[in-house]
Amino acid sequence: MAEFDTVIRDAVAVTAADVFSSDIGIAGGVVTALGRDLGPARREIDAAGRYVLPGGIDAHCHFDQPMRDSVTLADDFLSGPISAAHGGTTTVVPFACQLQGQSVRAAVEDYHRRAAGKPVIDYAFHLIISDPTEDVLRRELPALIGEGYSSFKIYMTYETLKLNDRQIISVLAVARREGAMVMVHAENSDCITWLTEELERAGRTAPYFHAPSRPQAVEREGTHRAITMSEIVDVPILLVHVSAADAVEQIRWGQGRGLRIFAETCPQYLVLTADHLDAPGFDGAKYVCSPPPRDVESQEAIWRGLRSGVFHVFSSDHAAFRFDHPEGKKRHGTDAPFKKVPNGVPGVETRLPILFSEGVNKGRIDLGTFVALTATNPAKLYGLYPRKGSIAVGGDADLVIWDKDREVVITNDKLHHNCDYTPYESLSVRGWPAVVFSRGEIVVEEGKLLAQPGQGQFLRCDRPAPMRA
Ligand code: URP
Ligand code: ZN
Ligand code: ZN
Repeated sequence: MAEFDTVIRDAVAVTAADVFSSDIGIAGGVVTALGRDLGPARREIDAAGRYVLPGGIDAHCHFDQPMRDSVTLADDFLSGPISAAHGGTTTVVPFACQLQGQSVRAAVEDYHRRAAGKPVIDYAFHLIISDPTEDVLRRELPALIGEGYSSFKIYMTYETLKLNDRQIISVLAVARREGAMVMVHAENSDCITWLTEELERAGRTAPYFHAPSRPQAVEREGTHRAITMSEIVDVPILLVHVSAADAVEQIRWGQGRGLRIFAETCPQYLVLTADHLDAPGFDGAKYVCSPPPRDVESQEAIWRGLRSGVFHVFSSDHAAFRFDHPEGKKRHGTDAPFKKVPNGVPGVETRLPILFSEGVNKGRIDLGTFVALTATNPAKLYGLYPRKGSIAVGGDADLVIWDKDREVVITNDKLHHNCDYTPYESLSVRGWPAVVFSRGEIVVEEGKLLAQPGQGQFLRCDRPAPMRA
């Protein structure tokens, strides 16, 4: 009788710590052996000296999140995870967003209904807390953390989501007491409002002016304030979608003081700049996201931060709105002022190839750092490790055989999201996932989807590693 369901032979296995030649034995969806000449298997896959990496974890993506203003996200819990899997991601962590006046539990139940029967890969939820009432703080969050929702995002901006400092401190205190990770969207809301009004008075409302309405100083101040509150409460925080050199400087400052400040960045801050927002006509709207893409100096600061350990997580912040669609970027027409353009860009499928190509293949980061940023660290920081995030005996067999030299020119027609554009159109990348396994089953092979809707399992998250220290 075969000892394994699958053996991947002759792999160059890569973890955050090691690169080693090995067969990978899989039984019951789990890696059960690493070594040479592993015994018989029902299915043998020859990796022939190719890199085998842990499946990516995209710990920041938005699927089927109801929006105000009759705007609709392009991707739901079917198309989003399918697109993710084609790009080498095997776990996604989207958001269950509490609406004001709603209980957090009602939000969680709503998102479970939205996801039911859909994801082709495993998934967990972060919570978004927009209304931290006494009941939410004292009763709901402690219970939900215990049930596997151990991270929440809070916003310093956006009218219907933002919390004031008192509310932020209250949420941080719950996270400290109960053991949760708080992700912070750090931008100073009042400054954005004032700058937006000034730009409007001057008639500067084209998509390009989204960038000067949210300059680096706005993110820098929000970042510093969030770090200060984390220090006061004495709890770790994770700053999401960090875009700019000034914010990197603040994070370095906090980390240098010994504070437990974690940080995430995204592809849009490595390969786009504010110039993209200046595309002809209304095309700049395709790049409207917050914080906005910056400049070459900020891109370089972010690369330095990725190399030197300032950043721990690399996510897509996939928030896809169709361009040519009445519920997408053009919801308010092609003359709409920038403040009416839905914020967000697609990227769940292109996240790993862009970092692999621009980072590993161009010699800016090594393979171990790639794995740490895209799989191991998010697993640890969001309570999914050691089940997810590495290649280890006992861990889920979420694996990707990489074709490290495949040249791909990214075009939207090659992607599997439901969006009608990609901000990375025409970008050439080298390196693309060839075979993607989720718990030992092939979900994508050479661009072909082999998984069934609903094959992905919901994951209950443990306490984040920094909260266990
Ligand atoms: O513009 C962005 N980033 N949209 C998605 C929502 C968020 O703030 O992450
Ligand atoms: Zn955000
Ligand atoms: Zn986001």
